[in-house]
Amino acid sequence: MIETRPTRSLPVLDALPDPSAARGSLDTLDERLAEFRPEEVRRPSFFVWTLGCQMNKSDSEEMAGRLLAAGCPEAGAPDDADVLVINTCAIRETAEAKVVGRQGRIAELKVRNPGMRVVLTGCAVREIDRARLPRRYPAVDLFLRPDEEPEIAERLGLASAQAAVGIALGVDTARTTIVNRTVVSAADMLPATRAGAVAAGAVRRASAISAWLPIVYGCDKTCTYCIVPFTRGPERSRPFDDIVAEARSLAAAGYREVTLLGQNVNSYGHDLPAEPRFDHVRPERTAGRRIERAARPDLAELLRAVDAIEGPDGGPAIPRLRFLTSHPWDLSDRLIATLAGVRSVCEHLHLPVQSGDDAVLRRMGRQYTIAHYLDRIRALRDALPGIALSTDVIVGFCGETDAQYRATLDLLEEVRFDQVFAAAFSPRPGTPAWHLPDDVPAHVKRDRLNGLLALQEGIGLARNRAWLGRQIEVLVDQAAEASVHDHEGRGPDPDPGVGVRVRGDAGATTHPGGGTRIDPAAADPAAPLVPGPGEVRLAGRTREGKLVHLVGPHDLVGRLVAVRIVHAGPFSLRGVTA
Ligand code: SAM
Ligand code: SF4
Ligand code: F3S
Repeated sequence: MIETRPTRSLPVLDALPDPSAARGSLDTLDERLAEFRPEEVRRPSFFVWTLGCQMNKSDSEEMAGRLLAAGCPEAGAPDDADVLVINTCAIRETAEAKVVGRQGRIAELKVRNPGMRVVLTGCAVREIDRARLPRRYPAVDLFLRPDEEPEIAERLGLASAQAAVGIALGVDTARTTIVNRTVVSAADMLPATRAGAVAAGAVRRASAISAWLPIVYGCDKTCTYCIVPFTRGPERSRPFDDIVAEARSLAAAGYREVTLLGQNVNSYGHDLPAEPRFDHVRPERTAGRRIERAARPDLAELLRAVDAIEGPDGGPAIPRLRFLTSHPWDLSDRLIATLAGVRSVCEHLHLPVQSGDDAVLRRMGRQYTIAHYLDRIRALRDALPGIALSTDVIVGFCGETDAQYRATLDLLEEVRFDQVFAAAFSPRPGTPAWHLPDDVPAHVKRDRLNGLLALQEGIGLARNRAWLGRQIEVLVDQAAEASVHDHEGRGPDPDPGVGVRVRGDAGATTHPGGGTRIDPAAADPAAPLVPGPGEVRLAGRTREGKLVHLVGPHDLVGRLVAVRIVHAGPFSLRGVTA
């Protein structure tokens, strides 16, 4: 006998509303419908703590944008976040130690919020060290190398079938493959993933006034002390048109200042294919290894293209264009002529020298001489007499003698830089210099650093005094009560920047290329900044990159303001609106 199943009847609502009645909200219907209400999906909140250089700041903007695009709200502080992203720097041991030293505090946060996840990204994450990382950073759940950062949402499981961040952004980002300890694809994806993020609006910019615009990732140089080529991989330039498109979108959004970013921006383009439209480009390298650059776009071409984006008045839509960092190998006459001839390019160049002694430079693998460096400085000052110059210096590198250190001081006296970012040599595991004897004792390194900074303080003061009484244009980007430019200021103990030893002066932390924070406690008694009714304390930069403090109405923030300089300190100026 065939067993018949009982007939299944479909559930029928026994409380159908009168179809002629006006439709109420779900809540006013039969309460048995409640189970059909869609559940609210709560996405974890996130906080990004950024250490290190401008490239890290730019990378953090992209990670924050990707997490926002995945529906995650941004928390105001690490304590309130479900996902804490730590974007690390490894340039010196102290930079890494800062995060290692916070592991206990982060573990406490995780006890308070057991759902909290901690992601460690940036230059402290090196594939070769991957096995050791969990021991070093026990509070961390997920490690991402810099080239894996675009995968952050996918790797946190936030990009489900309903919110496929990579696909929504037009690029499948989750492609990291390691073969015999070599990353074979993720690094090559960075230019494309950036373009996807920009097109989808998934870059959360920290400022509405000044923007970072990465143009080249990685570094092809082989400075023996430096970890960067090992953390960031080889140079990969973004396609020319992608960069111009991003600049166009920044111009449309009203940005007043854009800084083109890369470890060596002036080598931009050498790895891109030659194109007939760049046939006229014949850039030469002025030192270092030879490379074929003909018919490829270069930085000069890029500066011209961004400058040509017109605003409503026919002038450059982005009035201030900067670039960071340049390398003496690629400071060609063509680039210098472009700096002098392009309206929006600011009159400031950051050109790291590292040491004033040829033998030390040789050991550092810098592949130029002091004579070459001075020749480039002369060419720059001939073309742009008012240009401000800044540099990086390392003291106490392996085998540095007193005489070699004094040669660096002599160089500082000769060039008279506006600003010097100096640091003591810190041996980095895995770099060639790790194998050299670190034979300058710590106290000698410290004395040399202090001696150099004292000398530079005098030079900086003298150079700044030359601005007294002058009327200059300041782009105001800070008001005292809030950090307008720099989201880093919201982190737990933000890193002031790479190798920056800025002491005292008006309490503003600076790095080449802009970004300042005001410390209200740092008023100079000689020229106090006292806001009048309706005024606040403000800060901004001149085209030469000089930090200027002033008082005025809050609505000056974001504006180019004429300022008369009334006081000069070694690291900053004071002015009054003219
Ligand atoms: N690409 C730039 C250049 O050509 O010099 C610099 C980029 S690096 C991220 C910033 C600065 O960190 C360097 O200019 C150097 O002065 C400093 N630096 C790098 N490695 C260092 C180390 N092991 N110890 C101390 N300072 C270091
Ligand atoms: Fe480091 Fe030298 Fe590259 Fe600068 S150029 S990032 S100092 S290896
Ligand atoms: Fe990396 Fe920048 Fe630090 S490239 S090591 S975060 S200075």
